[in-house]
Amino acid sequence: MYISKSLPLLFIVLLLFFVNCKKQAAQCIEPDPSIDCTSGLKEIAPYPIGLATATFYLQEPAYDSILRQNFNSLTAEWQMKQNIIHIAEGSYNWQPMDDLVDYAQQNNIRIHGHALLWHGATPKWIEDYEGTSEEFEAIIKDYIQTVVGRYKGKITSWDVVNEAFKDNSGNLRATVFKKWMGDDYIARCFQYAREADPDVLLFYNDFNLPSSSSKCQAVLDMVEDFKARNIPIDGIGLQMHLQLQWPSDQQIQKTVEQIVETGLKIHFSELDVRLNDAGRLDSLTTEQAEKQAARYCQIARFHNQIPTEQQYGISIWGLRDSDSWIPQFFGNEDWPLLFDQNLKTKPAYEAFQKGLCE
Ligand code: G3I
Repeated sequence: MYISKSLPLLFIVLLLFFVNCKKQAAQCIEPDPSIDCTSGLKEIAPYPIGLATATFYLQEPAYDSILRQNFNSLTAEWQMKQNIIHIAEGSYNWQPMDDLVDYAQQNNIRIHGHALLWHGATPKWIEDYEGTSEEFEAIIKDYIQTVVGRYKGKITSWDVVNEAFKDNSGNLRATVFKKWMGDDYIARCFQYAREADPDVLLFYNDFNLPSSSSKCQAVLDMVEDFKARNIPIDGIGLQMHLQLQWPSDQQIQKTVEQIVETGLKIHFSELDVRLNDAGRLDSLTTEQAEKQAARYCQIARFHNQIPTEQQYGISIWGLRDSDSWIPQFFGNEDWPLLFDQNLKTKPAYEAFQKGLCE
């Protein structure tokens, strides 16, 4: 009698145990045994691992050592932007760019150029431009072709245009470029860059595509339009400035799949995971660090799922937490990167290693 009464309960317990094992097995993808998952990030990843950096960081021996152990791609966090190099019509400050390009070449590191046109780094003399549209376009064309031509064979890829669409909208931002060159300025800038270097890879780069379907659709429509008109474009940069649960994994997955469909390369171009938008934290808790680690691991898994020929790599937007743009921009202390302010690895680093290794 006792056995007959307890049989259904026993069955349910066994069923739950079986289901839980299956679920755990699905999450624990065994890494490739031929890869040492404790190596530097660039040794583990099947695609480039990049870092946003600046020359003044490279003069720190500890920073330089960690960079060369882990990264095989560099993005200038600000040194290659128009407001730094294009100091007047026909006049350039090349030193900041040359410094970074020289370092990358000496260390056999890929350089991703960022960014030829961005409303967030337009020199004042361009913003204040007065003249004809034709003269303005000639200035921009000369700037693009001078910069891309100078680093031909040295810079592998460029963010030709950065953040051209309004956030949460499919409309073009009212930038100085749109004002003087018209709505089709993006296409012409890609053509100018291609004319300067037939081999350089040309990217469009933007943020919040996973969370803004209208903005994402505008980018996808632009890509299809470029294809129809034979306007050169090679890739899309998803900046990936993330919070712990925003945008959701489902939103990221959907956007990655949509861009995979275009056949273009995909660059997770500015990855960081901020934790303190609300300003409620005054230190990095163990719980938050572990949640951040899980997110970095998952982002690596998303890139792993991209077809090999479309993987352009994952670039982290800064090395140590104290280098990040986020505290100054959002106004709260934050810990968004893989290394702490003392260049010690955080749980996010080990989790990112694990994700790359799967
Ligand atoms: O320009 C000075 C330079 O002359 C000086 O030598 C140097 C050292 O003190 O500082 C430079 O100042 C600031 C620079 O960051 C270094 O801290 C610039 O004034 C400041 O504008 C620049 O901010 C950068 C910002 O883009 C604008 O270029 C941030 O570091 C960088 O993280 C941020 O990155 C953007 C991406 O390009 C596009 N996506 C969003 C992302 C975050 O805003």
